[in-house]
Amino acid sequence: MKKIIIVFTLVSFFAKADEGMWMPQLIEALNFQDMKKNGFKLTAEQIYSINKASMKDAVAIFGGGCTAEVISTKGLILTNHHCGFSSIAGLSTVQNDYLKNGYWAMKPNEELMCPGLTVTFIKRIEDVTAKVMGSIKSAFSEIQKDSAIQSNIKALEVAAKKDSHFDSFIRPFYYGNEYYLFVVETFKDIRLVGTPPESIGKFGGETDNWVWPRHNADFSMFRIYGNKENKPADFNQENIPYTPLHSFPISLKGVEKGDFTMVYGFPGRTQEYLTSYAVDLLINQQDPLRVSLREKRLNILDADMKKNDTLRLMYTAKYAGVANYYKKWSGEMLGLQKSDAINKKKKQEADFLALVASDPKKAELYKNLFAEFKRTYADYAPLSKQYDYFTECLWGVEAFRFTANFTVVFNELRKKQAGKDNKFETAFKDNKPAIPFKNFNKETDRKLCKAMLEVYVANTDREFMPRFLDSLLNVHNGNVGALTDFLYNNSSFVDNEKAKIMFADFEKNAALYERDPMYLLASSILVHYQKTVLPQIGYYDRQINELQKTYMKGLMDNVKDKKFYPDANGTLRVTYGKVADYQPKDGVQYLHYTTIDGMVDKNKTGLEDFYVKPRLLELYEKKDFGQYADKNGKLHIAFTGSNHTTGGNSGSPVINAKGELIGTNFDRNWEGTMSDVMYNGSFCRNIVLDVRFTLWMVDKYAGAGYLLNEMKLVK
Ligand code: ARG
Ligand code: GLU
Repeated sequence: MKKIIIVFTLVSFFAKADEGMWMPQLIEALNFQDMKKNGFKLTAEQIYSINKASMKDAVAIFGGGCTAEVISTKGLILTNHHCGFSSIAGLSTVQNDYLKNGYWAMKPNEELMCPGLTVTFIKRIEDVTAKVMGSIKSAFSEIQKDSAIQSNIKALEVAAKKDSHFDSFIRPFYYGNEYYLFVVETFKDIRLVGTPPESIGKFGGETDNWVWPRHNADFSMFRIYGNKENKPADFNQENIPYTPLHSFPISLKGVEKGDFTMVYGFPGRTQEYLTSYAVDLLINQQDPLRVSLREKRLNILDADMKKNDTLRLMYTAKYAGVANYYKKWSGEMLGLQKSDAINKKKKQEADFLALVASDPKKAELYKNLFAEFKRTYADYAPLSKQYDYFTECLWGVEAFRFTANFTVVFNELRKKQAGKDNKFETAFKDNKPAIPFKNFNKETDRKLCKAMLEVYVANTDREFMPRFLDSLLNVHNGNVGALTDFLYNNSSFVDNEKAKIMFADFEKNAALYERDPMYLLASSILVHYQKTVLPQIGYYDRQINELQKTYMKGLMDNVKDKKFYPDANGTLRVTYGKVADYQPKDGVQYLHYTTIDGMVDKNKTGLEDFYVKPRLLELYEKKDFGQYADKNGKLHIAFTGSNHTTGGNSGSPVINAKGELIGTNFDRNWEGTMSDVMYNGSFCRNIVLDVRFTLWMVDKYAGAGYLLNEMKLVK
């Protein structure tokens, strides 16, 4: 009887239908049969191969943290508008505002070079666990182990790229139970081909962000250029479009509910194997604290941005950044609570102990595991709070952040004045803000500072505060308002006029500026966190990682009938599922797709987030949807799927059973944002821009239909 119960409960363990971010080189061994059962029509080798061209050769890391896919034999790539955002903003001027108006190159020499933007392909992935761990002796101390692992990793990385133009890096998987090597090729001449205007690319703004139903065309297109040998090269007029090993054919057939879908990309970070203690900390302390601190900041920014256009433009990008994870964390917290995540995790822990109980050796090995988790998280909780107060509260005050950077400048200057080797000139140049401040308003920041210091002071013991803050509080009788005014009224770092004078005679009067009250406070905050909070956080992070490593290995060794996928870590993964609708709450059912009708309806509300350029409305009136219409006659915009995705999957190709591109991944549903910690196939959904809408925009809206000639369209 007991045995039956155990076998039965294990079904509730990990990796249920559609869950998982799988390593492409292991698909054949782990997932292929299941994928086939779910409708996939190709071979595992067509997904990933190191000998032949495969889909992996058309999937790339785009910029800092997005994915892009190759869609033509001439190196044309597709990603999200929000992924291209900073490059597009960087190319925009008041006269040529590509963010506002959109942009389309009508011939090759109109494609615009994007400084600093890179695109990286994976050449091969290798399991190097044995090589990394080989020389590690069990008698080693933790520190010896760490340093041996690090030096093995360094040596392997260097050897892997030897004599080639490739780069290489090694990442731990399953909390360091395994290590994989990635050999990559990075292109540096990337040019903007086209983008819709922001009103369409980011239609719905913050109102619709993380929300379904969704109507924005979140895409932009770039082209990879290489040298005559088809290899990466710095920007050069002589460079030519890159010829890829593979490019995705594009399906114009559309999708049906239940169709097989696969997302191939670079998910950033998930934590699916956390214990109940970690989830408890997350939903009862970390998420609520971070959310409440961001809410305060957003309210202040929002009120000021409404005052005039100058302030609105100054803060719009910053607002979007703060708002994105504010909204994500609130969804995550509610989702985990609603799903009773802590108790579900507790049950998994109990199931695990029951599973190993019959073997005395194993039982002994894991006997104290969860007690140690519990103790470690109890010690970690107050530190985590201090850490969040640093990153989300004090560092939410912009003046603190950029003034603290001057620590380096003053240090280098002291070296210079003592006649030593120094990097003063570069440090000064890198850290000196443009005057007048471009995206900083003293009065807005003063309000942020007051609000943030108030919460910080109310929640922190005086003895644990940065030293100079404590002194300032003494001087101002604990009055945060007066203290803040003192800072903003007297500092040269936050005032356009005073800063101008200061930066003109900085070197001469440095001793004076080093006693600037804003600088004294900001540097004191920085030192406090670097010397007291961060080392302790680092200590506990290592402890927790060791415990997770043990738990992870325990699960993989003992839960025999389950396949375990490693948490996302920014490396290439495949996730598969189907086109799926869902019920956001009792009595409500959402469709799995949206159409341009919904975009126009939202536009009629007159709300600012739903403004679109008149051209879109004119085209809508003509109903000229051509080959891009669905068989229901409508022009579809987005659809939802049950693919397990996270941040970093933005821009990822969404692929059908035959390996054809059907869309570009760009978001998740709010109710399902908990999937970073606990995926639930019944309501966690990824949101995809239907590729037919993308092509309609390129062809009919932008009049750049010539680009379709280089694509392979499947009708
Ligand atoms: N939520 C999407 C992703 O994380 C899109 C974010 C950009 N859009 C925005 N409205 N802020 O990250
Ligand atoms: N918008 C996200 C990104 O930038 C994708 C949404 C998610 O977190 O799944 O990667």
